[in-house]
Amino acid sequence: MDKFVINGGFPLKGEVVISGAKNAAVAIVAATILSDEPCVLENVPEISDIGICLKILYEMGAGVRIIDKNTMRIDTRNISDPVVPYELARSMRASSYFLGTLLGRFHRADVPMPGGCDLGDRPIDQHLKAFNALGAKHTIDGGVVSLRADSLLGNQIYFDFNTVGGTINAIFAAVKADGLTVIENAAKEPHIVDLANFLNSMGADIMGAGTDVIKIRGVKRLKGVTYAIIPDQIEAGTYMVAAAATKGDVFIKNVIPKHLESITAKLRKVGVTVEEFDESVHVFVEGPLMKTTLKTLPHPGFPTDMQPQFSTLLTVADGASIVTDDIFDNRFRYVSELRRMGADITVDGTTAVIQGVSGLTGATVRASDLRAGAALVIAGMMASGTTVIENIFHIERGYENIDDKLRGLGADIKRVTDYEPIRKAI
Ligand code: EPU
Repeated sequence: MDKFVINGGFPLKGEVVISGAKNAAVAIVAATILSDEPCVLENVPEISDIGICLKILYEMGAGVRIIDKNTMRIDTRNISDPVVPYELARSMRASSYFLGTLLGRFHRADVPMPGGCDLGDRPIDQHLKAFNALGAKHTIDGGVVSLRADSLLGNQIYFDFNTVGGTINAIFAAVKADGLTVIENAAKEPHIVDLANFLNSMGADIMGAGTDVIKIRGVKRLKGVTYAIIPDQIEAGTYMVAAAATKGDVFIKNVIPKHLESITAKLRKVGVTVEEFDESVHVFVEGPLMKTTLKTLPHPGFPTDMQPQFSTLLTVADGASIVTDDIFDNRFRYVSELRRMGADITVDGTTAVIQGVSGLTGATVRASDLRAGAALVIAGMMASGTTVIENIFHIERGYENIDDKLRGLGADIKRVTDYEPIRKAI
């Protein structure tokens, strides 16, 4: 398995171009199942979660042609058996999207319970509630979720709490159902708007995406389109924090600054300068970093997917910061690794108290999930000495060419494989 070896202490400087949004792309790739014609997707990030989505489509009989590394033509007309293979479903949370898309097209689906980042228990009860409201029955047998419906009929769906995946699956099941579906207490993340834009460009009738009430009038057919995925808000935020954490000066290009508002606001609060342009942001630090309080919230609040990276920045801020993240049960698993690097963090349930220290020191650490991995990369670049990050496959699930992009900004980061002595890379 590959590792990253990072020699820290170099401020990031220069320009970095942000890739397409992972969480939009996994939904949009799955959505091609609902299309009656081939689609061309552009600005698709080259990450392993997309590789898994494409493999699932391919295994079910779809044609997938890679035009270039970020552009592909997907033709799902030949899918006949709506069954997702176990190993593929287990390796990714977004495999749950095949429940909604297969149900929407075939009125049946068999999908093993999804896997993905281990952030604590990740139930799908709200997804099932939405499918049931539209007329589908579900069973769970041997870890496989099976959905069956004679027909799908529009209905009112009220989510008990904010769920990104539940909202997306409800849209999938409703887009070709008969009549009107109204989703209340819907999630508002930018990737939900992007998905709705994609489906509407194919002929769907979805109104209100980006607000907490989404209305969907079912249509009979969806035509093929060429569609470019939005830039990745979390990848952009990660580079913003990396620039600040290394006391660097970085232009982050191909972003939608509006999607970054909560991250920008928090960075400014702790003393980082963020200048906004039409499609880029410029991040640099002049003075000391200050403590803050941070609470993650659904969009437009501060995203949980940025909490580990931002907390890492706070490890060297002046004073004690308090970070609360209760969106998932267990999003502080990276803390024990940061402690190995000298961070002073105590966690009580879903709250962390981070007492700023004068600096971090390199260590061998292990990524426990995607954003935890990104946080450790940032920590490695901040630290004195050498940091080795194990289990980087987690990071590759969601960051396109992270080591190349960081080297382009002046970081000393190398990828080594297990059989190559780490010593050689240092
Ligand atoms: N939940 C339930 N029941 C459900 C659905 C969700 O209890 O039926 C709970 C979850 O366990 C969690 C909370 O509700 O405690 C929110 O979950 P949500 O459904 O919003 O999350 P998700 O769809 O599983 C997506 C992203 C995550 C991101 C969250 C929150 C994708 C593929 N994943 O997950 O992204 O953290 O929304 O914004 O879009 C990441 O990119 O690193 C990542 C983990």
